[in-house]
Amino acid sequence: MKNYDEASRAAANIISAQIILKPNCVLGLATGSSPLGIYRQLVEWHKKGDLDFSEVKTINLDEYCGLSPESNDSYRYYMNHNLFSQININLVNTHVPNGMEKDAVKACNNYDEIIESYGGTDLQLLGIGKDGHIGFNEPSDSFSKGTHKVALLDSTINANKRFFEKIEDVPRSAYTMGIKHIMQAKKLLLVVSGTEKAEILKKALYGSIKPSVPASVLQYHNDLTVIGDNEALALL
Ligand code: GLP
Repeated sequence: MKNYDEASRAAANIISAQIILKPNCVLGLATGSSPLGIYRQLVEWHKKGDLDFSEVKTINLDEYCGLSPESNDSYRYYMNHNLFSQININLVNTHVPNGMEKDAVKACNNYDEIIESYGGTDLQLLGIGKDGHIGFNEPSDSFSKGTHKVALLDSTINANKRFFEKIEDVPRSAYTMGIKHIMQAKKLLLVVSGTEKAEILKKALYGSIKPSVPASVLQYHNDLTVIGDNEALALL
């Protein structure tokens, strides 16, 4: 795609098609800067009367530990602000891990129960971190399975500090959906933009499949769509 807007529109078309085909579908949603253009487009189509979210369910990938839904740095706030408050979704049907739950086992088990009660996601939207993380599944020695608590790597803290007032405000840990549930999505949609993602995207899609590049596991999925702007796709 020529640029971010064109890529966002193409990705929004795929999500929109999913909702039209299955009005009560389960969407796996992502945060970060990559999906913002998609959410803007979905809101616009909804406002025009072309897209109905009344039966849609959503499960987000991750949440920072220690941030409340009211904190404007939390992913729950991001989702409410950028999407949910502008469409006709029932908030009860939207899920983000509970960053305020101090008991990690409880928080993670609860989230896995939600994911499993829905039978997983029909379509999972993903971005990719510069170190290859998906959700907050950071490079590690093994692929994680269910929802778990992660200590964020310095590279991720640095990459995400742009959303915070100062780097000290970036939480050091997060709850994230695991690789198992991401891979159990019926369809995956990876959106990527910018030169800084070109190298990791090439590694993830064509390099060897290993937990030190978490997104490389996506090569095993049989319904993965990758949408990017020319800059991100430059090395493919
Ligand atoms: C965060 C999120 C990821 C996201 C990544 C890339 O770490 N937890 O889900 O994919 O950032 O974000 P961006 O799209 O802003 O580059």
